[in-house]
Amino acid sequence: MKVTVVGAGAVGASCAEYIAMKNFASEVVLLDIKEGYAEGKAMDLMQTASLNGFDTKITGSTNDYSKTANSDVVVITSGIPRKPGMTREELIGINAGIVKAVATNLLEHSPNTIIIVVSNPMDTMTYLVHKSTGLPKNRIIGMGGALDSARFKYRLAEALGAPISDVDGMVIGGHSDVGMVPLIGHATRNSVKVSEFLSDEQMSWVVEETKVGGATLTKLLGTSAWYAPGAAVSSMVQAIACDQKKMFPCSTMLDGEYGLSDICIGAPVILGKDGIEKIVEIELSDAEKAKMQESAEGVKKTNALLQV
Ligand code: 2OP
Repeated sequence: MKVTVVGAGAVGASCAEYIAMKNFASEVVLLDIKEGYAEGKAMDLMQTASLNGFDTKITGSTNDYSKTANSDVVVITSGIPRKPGMTREELIGINAGIVKAVATNLLEHSPNTIIIVVSNPMDTMTYLVHKSTGLPKNRIIGMGGALDSARFKYRLAEALGAPISDVDGMVIGGHSDVGMVPLIGHATRNSVKVSEFLSDEQMSWVVEETKVGGATLTKLLGTSAWYAPGAAVSSMVQAIACDQKKMFPCSTMLDGEYGLSDICIGAPVILGKDGIEKIVEIELSDAEKAKMQESAEGVKKTNALLQV
């Protein structure tokens, strides 16, 4: 299994690190436009191999896409991250051109690859990759829901005073501060609905803190987060590499599911060797359906700014 990660910034390097640490890939190629940067990060990471016990070979490349040839999975993290006070949507102008060019370059050398899109605004960048490459929809996956769900579980555990391994929950909808739909009504603590343990006020707190999870970190760090985004990507790549048939909420092209079409937005999917092997339609309450529709309207507004 060969994986390419484009963008050797904090998110890209963290993806490469977690993929290597999980030891399921034979090779990870890090690629960046900044001279020597990806090579440096790759070398630094390789010098952790004997300490951290992995055999994955990590190499770096300054914009030489021939080094990425025949990748099974590629991850696009390129573009600029948001700064405090910015929304993900504001990045569209710069990131759209970058993501489109990166996808074209990658496919030239790995025509059969599966693409995971991380760059923001992520749902719109995933849509752009669909429109500009025309690849089948199982091979283009947006990373958002896996990350947002991890943040949701973090907040649920905090509110419950429970270990994270006790909680389960999922966030669907757009990967934006207003568009996320944390499914609090479906969240559980060891299979018992969290509403059995939490007040309405506590549940609203969990939902609101989850939605601004990325913004909270951007404010604290001065730039966008990287550990949880990297971990989320590595889990998705592992599900594909190891054909796990694992369910994640991911941004996927919908064709009637959840009453939506011609849009990439977070919905539960099964990830296996063919990428998105199935979109799972779960029963939503009327309030959840309304939130999903509202979220889709927001994503469509951002999509309308694309020139594809
Ligand atoms: C986040 O931290 C990367 O969008 C990203 O939410």
